[in-house]
Amino acid sequence: MQRHLISAADLTRDDAVQILDTAEEMARVADRPIKKLPTLRGRTVVNLFFEDSTRTRISFEAAEKRLSADVINFSAKGSSVSKGESLKDTAQTLEAMGVDAVVIRHGASGAPYRLATSGWIDAVVINAGDGTHQHPTQALLDAFTMRRRLVGRDAGIGQDLGGKRVTLVGDILHSRVARSNVDLLHTLGAEVTLVAPPTLLPVGVESWPCEISYDLDATLPKSDAVMLLRVQRERMNAAFFPTEREYTRRYGLDGDRMARMPEHAIVMHPGPMVRGMEITAEVADSDRCTAVEQVANGVSIRMAVLYLLLGGMDPAVTHTRTEEK
Ligand code: NCD
Repeated sequence: MQRHLISAADLTRDDAVQILDTAEEMARVADRPIKKLPTLRGRTVVNLFFEDSTRTRISFEAAEKRLSADVINFSAKGSSVSKGESLKDTAQTLEAMGVDAVVIRHGASGAPYRLATSGWIDAVVINAGDGTHQHPTQALLDAFTMRRRLVGRDAGIGQDLGGKRVTLVGDILHSRVARSNVDLLHTLGAEVTLVAPPTLLPVGVESWPCEISYDLDATLPKSDAVMLLRVQRERMNAAFFPTEREYTRRYGLDGDRMARMPEHAIVMHPGPMVRGMEITAEVADSDRCTAVEQVANGVSIRMAVLYLLLGGMDPAVTHTRTEEK
């Protein structure tokens, strides 16, 4: 495994399966009355968030605290600092404080890569979402959720997602979640189909390792998992579709459409959901929707990533004698 986690494309199949398996170990800690491991005691992790976040920020913080790391939260909300120089200044401040890992979310694609390769800091860099580029821990928690639901919690250990059919629907153009998922799912052997209005597909998407469709209804019966993506208005500077109603009619998932999916198939969403736009409340609140499960799984995945990148050789979970019996 590489020293930093910048892109899902940097993970080999074995790296990814190791992270998923370690996350299963970490998930067991969440079932204990005391949800804490001493693994990162004495290590300092900074959460450097230049962009809004609910789930990702809270989940990284929970993961760091469960591993007993010292946590510093830096939120640059409202700051007008520009990319290159300010990032360098911030990085040098962190370096002076002796930080071991930096979890960074930034509006500029490439900011985590710059931080990891610039020589400004010595810390491990974990990308928590950069612009429209990558969000590798989201793809990992999505893969973890799919493996648990479609292969099985115990049966999944050591397994990838070979042959599973995953459909991503919505604003692919602006979505780092889509890019990371396409990369990781391909590495794990899944077959990915993107469904979106042509205006919300990036130039060059034909060269991605996936299929493209404009017909959601035809794709649903052939899907084991359907992941809906939010229309990212904050990244749009033009009209990409006529009206919201038109978008919802063609690309939104409602109860009738969900009924076209195979019985075992799941509905996924990375959040934040816009109910009534890409997903109806009926679907979002149904048993088949894994949105809340994905959030819980995110903590286990982030614990696994932090442990593998920072924790060294100590066993992840020390079992008590009673557990061993
Ligand atoms: C996504 C993000 O920020 O990239 N959310 C997340 O991390 N769970 C997707 C989005 O903002 O729509």
